[in-house]
Amino acid sequence: ATRRVTAPEIRSRKGGEPIVALTSYHAITARLVDNHADILLVGDSLGMVLYAMDSTLGVSLDMMIMHGKAVVRGSKRGMVVVDMPFGSYEESPAVAFRNAARVMQETGCGAVKIEGGVRMAETIRFLTERGIPAMAHIGLTPQSINTLGGFKTQGRDTALWPLIKADAKAVSDAGAFSVVLEGIVEPLAAEISRETSIPTIGIGGSKECDGQILVLEDMLGYNPKPPKFVKVYGTVGAGIDAAVKAYADDVRARVFPGDENVYLLK
Ligand code: KIV
Ligand code: NA
Repeated sequence: ATRRVTAPEIRSRKGGEPIVALTSYHAITARLVDNHADILLVGDSLGMVLYAMDSTLGVSLDMMIMHGKAVVRGSKRGMVVVDMPFGSYEESPAVAFRNAARVMQETGCGAVKIEGGVRMAETIRFLTERGIPAMAHIGLTPQSINTLGGFKTQGRDTALWPLIKADAKAVSDAGAFSVVLEGIVEPLAAEISRETSIPTIGIGGSKECDGQILVLEDMLGYNPKPPKFVKVYGTVGAGIDAAVKAYADDVRARVFPGDENVYLLK
């Protein structure tokens, strides 16, 4: 079996070759993402992207495990990181360990990701010291939209920069092998990237981050109104629409199936 990218390898990429990360939720995309990315994130954004939820709050541990298994089976080389969903890790380091251990045992992933900075530092240390590599996620943390008051860019008020910087320092000191910076004003994301000793992975961050991540479906062009921080690299939505229309037209015209698509008797 091909060896996978490891958490220490990602950790050692600080200031080096940029880390390429994308989300993946199932085997078909895992195979394709695995050809080019270092990290495949099974993000709890799947609740919104695949299940049409309004937020990520309704995503369950079982959902993450099902999708995590599919992505591990569908890939060989990249490190698979699985998001810990809302409610599965916040109450205590022990609860976080129990649930994260289940995720690792049942999916075979290489690490988990949890949202939170200073408030989750103790948990990150607890997991890391017990064999579970942890990626942190700070700035706009979607599981906290109800306390943040919506999907709002963080750091517009420079007076609050020290708080976000403290989050980055806390997760780094606690042993996180990398940290996602989401929805943070560019100059702050750049400063955090320069000041933090672990790799930063930006989404709505800065080109100075040590790596970048996007939601695959957003960058493929499924989302007709992608957020500003998404660069759209594909036309998959339009491609699927055209294929489905061509099929529907063929069925209605009795052109499909043709002789080449049926089992004729010789
Ligand atoms: O759930 C997700 O897709 C994420 C990334 C956007 C970082 O957490
Ligand atoms: Na997430």
